[in-house]
Amino acid sequence: MSLRDTDVNLYDFERLRRDFGSFVEGGDTIPGRTERELVGAGYQRILTETARIVAHQWQNHLDRSALKGFLFYGGVGIGKTTMAKRLAYEMCRVMGDDGSRATRVNEVAFVLVDGADIARGRYGETEERLRELFEYARDGEAGYHSHKHDDDPKRRTVLLFDDVESLFLTRSSAGAKEWHFSQNSVFFHNIDELDTAHTSVVLTTNRLDLLDAAIVDRFMSYEFGAPAEQVLVEVARSKAQLQGLTEEEVEPVLQLIRTEGRVRSIREVERLVTRAYVDKVLAG
Ligand SMILES: Nc1ncnc2c1ncn2[C@@H]1O[C@H](COP(=O)(O)OP(=O)(O)OP(=O)(O)O)[C@@H](O)[C@H]1O
Ligand SMILES: [Mg+2]
Repeated sequence: MSLRDTDVNLYDFERLRRDFGSFVEGGDTIPGRTERELVGAGYQRILTETARIVAHQWQNHLDRSALKGFLFYGGVGIGKTTMAKRLAYEMCRVMGDDGSRATRVNEVAFVLVDGADIARGRYGETEERLRELFEYARDGEAGYHSHKHDDDPKRRTVLLFDDVESLFLTRSSAGAKEWHFSQNSVFFHNIDELDTAHTSVVLTTNRLDLLDAAIVDRFMSYEFGAPAEQVLVEVARSKAQLQGLTEEEVEPVLQLIRTEGRVRSIREVERLVTRAYVDKVLAG
C-alpha cells in the first residue's frame, strides 16, 4: 500500500496562494513578501532563518545534512502551523514553482500530517503509515514515476507533523505520558535517513516538556512566545479590513486587546473580529 494525493492533506502552490495571496516582492532576497503576509518582526525573523537554511540545503544538494528541520513550540493559536505553511510557500518561490505544471522539476509540496490522526489510526497501522508518509513526501503519489531511474527529479517537500506530541505519546498504565517505542523508532529511522536535499520536516507542539531529547538534537527549535500587543492589533486591523469593517467597528476589539491579559492568541483576535462582523451584519 502506498499513499495517494487524496490520502493526505496536500498543499500545492495554488492552495498556498489562497492562504497568503500572491508574492508582491521577491527577487533574490529571502523571504519575499506576500499580499497577506505574516504580521510581526519575530515571525519574519523565523521565516527568514528557516527559509534561508532550507534553501541552502535544497540548492546545494545537502542530502545528508545533520539538520533535519525545525521544531516550533509554544502556546495555542499563535502561528506555529501557519509558519510551516508560509515556509513551504516561500520555498515554492525560491525554487521557482509558480504553479505551472509544465515541469515537475521545480515542484514544492506541503504535506500536513495531523499527529492525532496518525495516532488514532486514521491512516491505518501507525508504523507502516509513517514509513509511507516519508516515502510519499519525497517521491509523490505512487505510480507517478512510470519508469523509475535514479536520476529522476524528485519533488521538494515541507513535511509537517502537526501537534507531534499526540503522535508519539501514549498513556502508560501508571497514567504518565511516555513515548511509544515502536513508532518512535520508525520515526527516528526515517528522520536519520531523510534526504535533506529534497525534504524538510517541521514539527509543532504545545508541549515541549514531553518531547524527547533526540528531537532536540536533530531539529532547530524555535519558541513561539505570546505575540506582542502591537502584533495582535495589527492582525485585528488587517482582518477587519478583509471583512469590510471600519476603524470604528473594530475599535472594541482593539480595546479588548489593549486590556492587559485579556487576549492571548492570534486565533482569538480572529474570532473577535469575526464576531464583530457578524454582530454588524445582524444588527443592520
Ligand atoms: N504572524 C501572523 N500574522 C497574521 N496572522 C497570523 C500569524 N500567525 C498566525 N496567524 C493566524 O492565526 C491563526 C492561528 O494560527 P495557527 O493555527 O498557525 O496557530 P498554532 O500556533 O498552530 O495553534 P495550535 O497550537 O492551536 O495548533 C491562523 O488563522 C493564522 O492565519
Ligand atoms: Mg497548529
